[in-house]
Amino acid sequence: MELKIAVLPGDGIGPEVMAATLPILGKTLEVFGHRLEYSTHAVGGAGIDQFGKALPDETLAACDAADAILFGSVGGPKWANLPRNEQPERGALLPLRKHFELFANVRPGLLFPSLSASSPIAPSRIPDGIDMVCIRELTGGIYFGHKETRTLPNGETEAIDTMTYRTSEILRITDVAIATARARSRKTICLVDKSNVLDTSVLWNKVVRERVAQVAPDVTLTHLLVDNAAMQLVANPGQFDVLLTENMFGDILSDEMAIVCGSLGMLSSASLGARKNRHGFAFGLYEPSGGSAPDIAGKQIANPCAQILSAALMLRHSFGLDKEAAMIEKAVRKTVDAGVRTGDIAFGGKAVSTLQMSAAIFENLTK
Ligand code: NAD
Ligand code: IPM
Ligand code: MN
Repeated sequence: MELKIAVLPGDGIGPEVMAATLPILGKTLEVFGHRLEYSTHAVGGAGIDQFGKALPDETLAACDAADAILFGSVGGPKWANLPRNEQPERGALLPLRKHFELFANVRPGLLFPSLSASSPIAPSRIPDGIDMVCIRELTGGIYFGHKETRTLPNGETEAIDTMTYRTSEILRITDVAIATARARSRKTICLVDKSNVLDTSVLWNKVVRERVAQVAPDVTLTHLLVDNAAMQLVANPGQFDVLLTENMFGDILSDEMAIVCGSLGMLSSASLGARKNRHGFAFGLYEPSGGSAPDIAGKQIANPCAQILSAALMLRHSFGLDKEAAMIEKAVRKTVDAGVRTGDIAFGGKAVSTLQMSAAIFENLTK
């Protein structure tokens, strides 16, 4: 198979973790006799610096022509004072998600048993480990509703962000959650909303309940209000199988899920829509769930696992290459199990650099 990938390293630790990922992706595809054709493009702050625009035209054109996008992360203090819509996040990442209508963000929360000491949750609270997945709606809600900042007659400034959802947006993400649940042993979806306060949540609640009842009697649906869900995620994270929620709740809860599973540096993600690539698989954007981590950027200490595991998700979702994806995932697990750790998961023990972590995973691919 020929895989055409647009590689967008972005800012901060993005280029470091991307450089740690490409050899692993290349080797895996070589072992299985596939052809990797990738090109690298500026995005975010790097796009602003090189082309005066967070999402340069040539970058968008390359994404359009690719089978999938492998994305690092964008943003940082250098660009934080630009007009909001020109900043890396609102000028590149959100427009990319919207352009390709990548409405389903899949974030797997898996606690490797060997990493349980890195979780802030006491082992006694997670006797059976954590194996959950957060399905986050990604192109609707408060991120994309009407926004306005205006001056009131009394001279005060008022800022407005509007959360909107329509039935079709909720239905399509519910279907992703159902398919995800069906592929898992517990087949349980927990819908998280704020239906005691928000009209959008009342609609979510109605639409999800009706959809699951109609098309998925084999799937169990449970429900938590978002404040309770945030608490349950630390009190008893093992209870979750598939967590389904709207855009902003999913953003917040998935960072919480990440640390409960050891580190934000371990959390990969796939952003998928209806568009298919040349091979008939889902076109997608694959990125670590964490950001550009300006506090550690340039130091070669970032954990590359989230980026590497995102590449594995890409092989699975955008190319149907399950064996190849599993090869990468096994190598990551083997490396972490062997005690090779970046600082975020070293838990006081010896920490290796980003590239040393990558080299160890590379070695374990074929061992
Ligand atoms: P962040 O996710 O960048 O960092 C939060 C904390 O987690 C930091 O202490 C950081 O060092 C740590 N961390 C994150 N990834 C890590 C890794 N791979 N290895 C080790 N430690 C890691 O969040 P932030 O500091 O709030 O945001 C920084 C910038 O990143 C902002 O501009 C934000 O908008 C942007 N951001 C971008 C994306 C993206 O491009 N997908 C996602 C989140 C945040
Ligand atoms: C994420 C990030 C983004 C989001 C930001 C950078 C716009 O936090 O992917 O989780 O909020 O979706
Ligand atoms: Mn986030």
